[in-house]
Amino acid sequence: MGKVFFGQIIHSKSLDNLELITDGFVAVRDGKIVAIGTRLEFEAVPEKETYEKISLSESQFLLPGFIDCHIHAPQVPNIGLGLDKDLLGWLSAYTFPLEAQYKDVEFAEQVYRTVVRDTLASGTTCACYFATIYNGSNKVLTEEIIRQGQRAFVGKVSSNRCCPDFYVECGTDDSVKDNIDFIEYVLSKNIDRVRPIITPRFAISCDMKLMQKLAELAERYKLNIQSHVSENLGELDAVREFFPKNKHYCDVYDEAKLLTSRCVMAHGVHLEDDELRVLASRGTSVAHCPTSNTSLGSGMCDVKRLLAARVTVGLGTDVSGGNRIAMNDVIRATLDVSHHLNMMKKQNVQGTGSVAPTEDNAKYVPLNYKQAIYLATLGGAEALAIADKVGNFLPGKDFDALLIDTSVYPINRYQLPPALTEKKSAEEKLLELLQKFVYVGDDRNITSVFVAGQKVK
Ligand code: GUN
Ligand code: ZN
Repeated sequence: MGKVFFGQIIHSKSLDNLELITDGFVAVRDGKIVAIGTRLEFEAVPEKETYEKISLSESQFLLPGFIDCHIHAPQVPNIGLGLDKDLLGWLSAYTFPLEAQYKDVEFAEQVYRTVVRDTLASGTTCACYFATIYNGSNKVLTEEIIRQGQRAFVGKVSSNRCCPDFYVECGTDDSVKDNIDFIEYVLSKNIDRVRPIITPRFAISCDMKLMQKLAELAERYKLNIQSHVSENLGELDAVREFFPKNKHYCDVYDEAKLLTSRCVMAHGVHLEDDELRVLASRGTSVAHCPTSNTSLGSGMCDVKRLLAARVTVGLGTDVSGGNRIAMNDVIRATLDVSHHLNMMKKQNVQGTGSVAPTEDNAKYVPLNYKQAIYLATLGGAEALAIADKVGNFLPGKDFDALLIDTSVYPINRYQLPPALTEKKSAEEKLLELLQKFVYVGDDRNITSVFVAGQKVK
């Protein structure tokens, strides 16, 4: 039996096209969206009497599930730690020692059960995970994802140099062998929504030969690729030192043939114009991770500049460089960073070194909350090359959705008097519910979560 949801529906059709259906329906059968429209249009849906009917209240609306384009599952126990350091210091002091613990499969079981549960509870219907170099625990993560019903990419981390002795792969051939073992393990599960992803940690920790071999594996198995690029200035110096012949950071990955249309690179804070051209021409996307970039002091990524260069952008928590597991917080941080950049461009505060108010800066427009919703949903789907499957509620896609309830704490804490709301149109009221959710809401307002039609919260 299918299900049909009646009520308010919001989804993005593109960066600047957020569709609001104030009195609508979404019909779902076998996990897929059959039809969407106004309540009246439901009358024309074939076999309409065979759907179980679910009516949302005035305080509720449906939103597509959040897509976290970049999260390190093993780093979750470190959340909030070491953020007084910069990237490379934090990796050595906190990240590598924790990731090395995942040789212990029992420890991994405990952590990964919680990670998948908590990301789902906060509305992440699809996560693009970095795991560790250890396949025993990488398989545990895969099993938890399958068991709990999340959609995910799972990456066995590849890293064959410049890591401590206690957390580094033995050599290129062993790394390739382990990669094949993990890829074939995940593919053997035959679950469409859970895919392996090729995961060179970053150019500093992988030599060119390993990166080239990984690109070949991505090509051979038709897989997505993920890594980090241009996150931090110290990292950029190290990349220049390791790859003195390459024009820039992206050129290193391009030489290895890692920049494909199914590749997502985290951060991209300090990319040069020429690098943006390379990414756009290869169809490679960027996962914007504002909580991480602020916590580790990496910089402020100008998402508007990336979008203007026709680079696809999704959002990532980047836990535990990022200090929040919920995409709500990343959406807010995206808006915060965009506003901070805008303010820097508009004001010339003496002595702060902020940007001079040139003509371009004066014309700059920061991201708005509707665009941030696009980035967290359809933008993420495009970045991971799965927009044919998820990202919004177009018929034929899987029903990955959040039921948002604004009558629940914390949004319900302060109510407007009726005199200020009764004259508003249904569309204005729905947009205000969305603003409340974006700026004030959290996982308590996400009362149900669906992945491919299955209720997972
Ligand atoms: N660059 C290489 N590894 C990492 C990591 O674990 N987190 C972040 N934020 N950047 C990285
Ligand atoms: Zn990361």
